[in-house]
Amino acid sequence: MRILVTGATGLLGKSLCPLLDREGWQYWACNSKIFDITNTKMVNEIMNKISLDFIIHLAGFTNIDQAEDNPKKAFDVNALGTKNIASIAKKHNIPILYVSTDNVFDGKSNTPYKPSDATNPINVYGKSKLEGEREIIKATKKFYILRTSWLYGQGGYVDAMLTFSNFRKEISIVNDQIGCPTCADDVSEKIIELIKTNAPYGIYHVSSSGSASWLDFTKKIFEFKKRNVEVSAIDKSDFPRPAKRPRYCVLDSRDILPDWKNSLEKYLASKN
Ligand SMILES: NC(=O)c1ccc[n+]([C@@H]2O[C@H](COP(=O)([O-])OP(=O)(O)OC[C@H]3O[C@@H](n4cnc5c(N)ncnc54)[C@H](OP(=O)(O)O)[C@@H]3O)[C@@H](O)[C@H]2O)c1
Repeated sequence: MRILVTGATGLLGKSLCPLLDREGWQYWACNSKIFDITNTKMVNEIMNKISLDFIIHLAGFTNIDQAEDNPKKAFDVNALGTKNIASIAKKHNIPILYVSTDNVFDGKSNTPYKPSDATNPINVYGKSKLEGEREIIKATKKFYILRTSWLYGQGGYVDAMLTFSNFRKEISIVNDQIGCPTCADDVSEKIIELIKTNAPYGIYHVSSSGSASWLDFTKKIFEFKKRNVEVSAIDKSDFPRPAKRPRYCVLDSRDILPDWKNSLEKYLASKN
């Protein structure tokens, strides 16, 4: 199995690549320094020279607030870049797995979003990722679109909160934004499973079971690690940011991943 992994140096890529090693699969781990997915000519030149069986496309412009300030960059990476990578999948007639986001929904629902639910992104990041999904679907039938949410892993939010707790004893966290914290390791295992089982192509929602506000999530981090930090609640409106966030963005994952608290506890057990 020869796999192209874009975005291999990102949060999810760092979790996934060791699992590809475990499986004994050959892969080419890429980031923007190896090649820029927005450079159509370069992508085509490089890809014409290599032989591939599968593409895992993780590369993305992921800073939600910066996307609002620089929509061109967000669309270049998330839409044009994805179009370029999807065209390689088409040319080689191989499957492509694209990781997308809960931000393709507007957050107005009161129940978890199913893969078939209507999309309606309310920020530039969500719009550009949805455009990426459309490019994939336009290019090939051999696709997995895997939407996930609130990813944490090496160097992410949970690690940042642990570092924070070494220096500060109080923090205010948003209480009126609901989603599902999801461990990158769980998503990576799911990616391996989809590939190994030749799962049917289509759109998948892959996040932990259950739901939480950022406040619930943050409190659990400190509780599990016995860190003495006082966490107080604020509303989104008390903490204005450039990008709107969906109010409720829980993905209906049909319980394919463990409850978020169990995964968080497991992740934290491996941390000092
Ligand atoms: N993090 C989350 O909470 C979350 C939630 C839902 C969905 N997702 C999606 O999951 C995927 C992985 O997210 P992540 O958190 O691992 O992202 P990340 O940590 O921000 O990493 C982004 C990766 O994309 C690469 N990249 C960016 N621009 C590129 C370009 N022009 N050409 C080639 N590579 C480029 C980066 O390479 P450099 O290091 O060289 O910049 C890096 O390897 C993304 O598509 C994201 O939209 C993430």
